[in-house]
Amino acid sequence: MMKADLADARWTLDAVPYESINVAQARTSDDVFYLVAAASFIETAADLYTDNLIGYFSGEPEVAAWLDGHWKPEELRHGRVLRGYVEHVWPEFDWALAYRGFFEEYSRACTVDEFEPTHSLEMVARCVVETGTATFYQALGELACEPVLRAMAARIRADEVGHYKYFYRFFQSCDGGRYPGRIRVLNALRRRMVEARGDDAECALRHVYRVRHGVDDVAARSALSARLTASVKRHYPVGLAARMLLKPLNLPPSVARVLEGPVARATARIML
Ligand SMILES: [Fe+2]
Ligand SMILES: [Fe+2]
Repeated sequence: MMKADLADARWTLDAVPYESINVAQARTSDDVFYLVAAASFIETAADLYTDNLIGYFSGEPEVAAWLDGHWKPEELRHGRVLRGYVEHVWPEFDWALAYRGFFEEYSRACTVDEFEPTHSLEMVARCVVETGTATFYQALGELACEPVLRAMAARIRADEVGHYKYFYRFFQSCDGGRYPGRIRVLNALRRRMVEARGDDAECALRHVYRVRHGVDDVAARSALSARLTASVKRHYPVGLAARMLLKPLNLPPSVARVLEGPVARATARIML
């Protein structure tokens, strides 16, 4: 379904046809509003940490140039088009105000990225992040009932998969092409997965909720958060997530196949 959406629509993320959105149809899902708004915050805030990462790879000019010239603009474009969608479909929501509140908190607490000790292990961590985003946008595309959003989600997902592929390729060649060892890779995977466990998303959701309702009702917001997790979970591509996460472990295919099921279940528990 995602592929059909992608093929049908001939536009790119540089020219999203907001005017062809059926706004009444798009507004039928409250869950979608919260998911798109929260995602737009996190993508827009990428500006904060991308430069640190680019600095970390300053000794690898080719990677630094790719990060600066492709990855960063693509992440920021994701933020821009998702914001555009929210502002078009829910014009009564003050995106800029909510984002200001989010950014203030996020820049203080949510983003102090600690880098892994080696370039190749940092690439493993980046692969976890891109797995999280690629699979999230796949779920969002399935959840969305409005075609422009479905197509946007498909395109963003394709970008995130592209990021994963680049990071994975570089993982294989950096640090002189030496494999860091399964235990170290596993630890890097685990560290990043635990870190990724939704703190940023909670922070974003809190600020979206506050501006939408004028107050923060913790109980109602927690219920909303649980409902959003459940609806993403229903469409979450656990098998894909497991395959992407297992890849840097370099396991023999037969072992990877056996592990896919248990890893998929663990992934769903940890990532959602
Ligand atoms: Fe992104
Ligand atoms: Fe990405």
